[in-house]
Amino acid sequence: MTANRLADQAQDTDQGSEPYPIVHLDPRLVYEGAVQHGAKLGRTIGFPTANVAVPRPGPERGIYAARVRLADGSLCEAIAYFGSRPTVDGVGDLLEAYLFDFDGFLYGSELRVELVAFIRPDEQFAGLDEMVTQMRRDCVRARAVLRGEI
Ligand SMILES: Cc1cc2nc3c(=O)[nH]c(=O)nc-3n(C[C@H](O)[C@H](O)[C@H](O)COP(=O)(O)O)c2cc1C
Repeated sequence: MTANRLADQAQDTDQGSEPYPIVHLDPRLVYEGAVQHGAKLGRTIGFPTANVAVPRPGPERGIYAARVRLADGSLCEAIAYFGSRPTVDGVGDLLEAYLFDFDGFLYGSELRVELVAFIRPDEQFAGLDEMVTQMRRDCVRARAVLRGEI
């Protein structure tokens, strides 16, 4: 990523009870690619994600507030994850985007994912329930970032 790790920068400021304050990206990072099939576990935990391959080394591993341009030109607010999914024994880094308020078919189509702000680093959770609880919190924060509130 950049010279200073985002997680280190995040610890320099204080934003309430969240351990990782938001770090806005300037410039924003943009990744484009065709949506690939993932393990499809996301669907079963209520977070279907669109997976896009990114060139190495990719962004810092973690969770980001994002905006996603779809192939039809529409723009969706989203949360993105870059990492190797340690909680589910994932292999290799992937960029995944969960589009808010979207219920459509994306496989094979081109997406443009713009990372707006870093929310927290990737983490290995003890189980899926704990991870999903944290993912819901991440979504609340990402929506607030995208509304310009934090
Ligand atoms: C908002 C968000 C946060 C995530 N945070 C983590 C995390 O901290 N640790 C982790 O192992 N995976 C994390 N993931 C990735 C999930 O493990 C992954 O989306 C899930 O296993 C489904 O993957 P699949 O679509 O390939 O089936 C996160 C995903 C999202 C959308």
